[in-house]
Amino acid sequence: TRINQILSLRDMEDVALKVLSHKAMAYYSSAADDEITNTENARAFSRFFFHPRVLRPISQVDPSTSILGIKSPIPIFVSGAALAKLGHPLGEINITRGAGRTNIIQMVSSNASLSPSQIAAGRLSPSQPLFFQLYKNKDNAIAAQRVREVEELGYRAIFLTVDAPVSGNRERDIRAPFVLEAQEREAEAISRQPDDVEKEVEGQVNFYGTAGALLQHMDLDMTFSEARDVITRKLWDHAIYTILGQTIPWLRKVTKLPIVLKGIQCVADAVLAAEAGVDGILLSNHGGKPCCRQLEYSLPPLEVLYKIRQQRPDVFDKLEVYIDGGVRRGTDVLKAVCLGAKAVGLGRPFLYAQSAYGEAGVIQAVRILQREIVLGMRLMGATNVNELVPEMVERVNWQPL
Ligand code: FNR
Repeated sequence: TRINQILSLRDMEDVALKVLSHKAMAYYSSAADDEITNTENARAFSRFFFHPRVLRPISQVDPSTSILGIKSPIPIFVSGAALAKLGHPLGEINITRGAGRTNIIQMVSSNASLSPSQIAAGRLSPSQPLFFQLYKNKDNAIAAQRVREVEELGYRAIFLTVDAPVSGNRERDIRAPFVLEAQEREAEAISRQPDDVEKEVEGQVNFYGTAGALLQHMDLDMTFSEARDVITRKLWDHAIYTILGQTIPWLRKVTKLPIVLKGIQCVADAVLAAEAGVDGILLSNHGGKPCCRQLEYSLPPLEVLYKIRQQRPDVFDKLEVYIDGGVRRGTDVLKAVCLGAKAVGLGRPFLYAQSAYGEAGVIQAVRILQREIVLGMRLMGATNVNELVPEMVERVNWQPL
């Protein structure tokens, strides 16, 4: 399929399906348990309808915004997803270059198949912004070293993933061993030490591991100093409280960069994050990935955003709120922005785009979204993102077919 025949992100996914190995596709697309949450992330958008305004001048439409003070031509960014090289030999560099050409911001995964320095070197210019997604090592010294490294490389924000890995659901592992291997690669990547970056620089990442090694090396405590206690009692509020009480002040001391918590999944934690004074929260359930603390039946991020809007709109004044998970259309972006999201992240769509067409695929994906966003704004009667307001969307209590 020629790239100019790709008209939507779904078209892109279809091409990726054809070019990706079975294994890579399984890794990219898989989700937890019955994959309800992953499916619902996308379906949630179809419960929100617009109240478009007419008779407004719409010849000039400006969909640009700022994310943590950085200009972005549309309210989207790349959410960090692991192992882009599974889909294309250049891996994350495709995304870096594509993002550079379209001026959008790429969040780089802690588990990228290239090192933070390789990705930084792949930028079109040193001023091209990158964010870094951090899986915090349980050893504060190692974690601090990582944060300082990316700060020195010019990364502009730390997205601390708080839906941190604990031992994943094994169901899919049993049924599909190829997924297990991919999961192990990610798990091992999570646990790798800074020394391993050296190996990566030579392009030889040792990703092989066993299930035993997974449990042995993976930092199950991640950001929670009392992880075992938290898991036993399943008190999410307590969990986030522990994080805010210990990790955030620590991270503040380590870096001057803005801090965003990635993986907030309820109103209470959004409020705690605001109280802790972080710069932003990314409402996310990790796109439903099984390797992580992705609770099947955690609410779709769009619904969490809606609840914050209804219950605690003051949160939007204290920090920037983003969502990711299931965003596939310009209208999805607009719904989130109307409800107060500063921007939305996309994970899989960029993995698929770079797998299918390399850098050009990433550029095409952004252009598709840009076109859909501008068209949507015109049809809604909004000339800039400030005119996208909560009154323009309505949540219906039925699910369209
Ligand atoms: C992810 N995600 C993720 N998140 C993170 O913090 N660190 C990581 O290394 C990864 N790795 C990863 C791999 C793959 C294959 C997927 C699909 C996802 C989650 C990611 O950042 C984001 O939250 C979701 O991808 C958003 O959902 P969509 O856009 O994929 O539906």
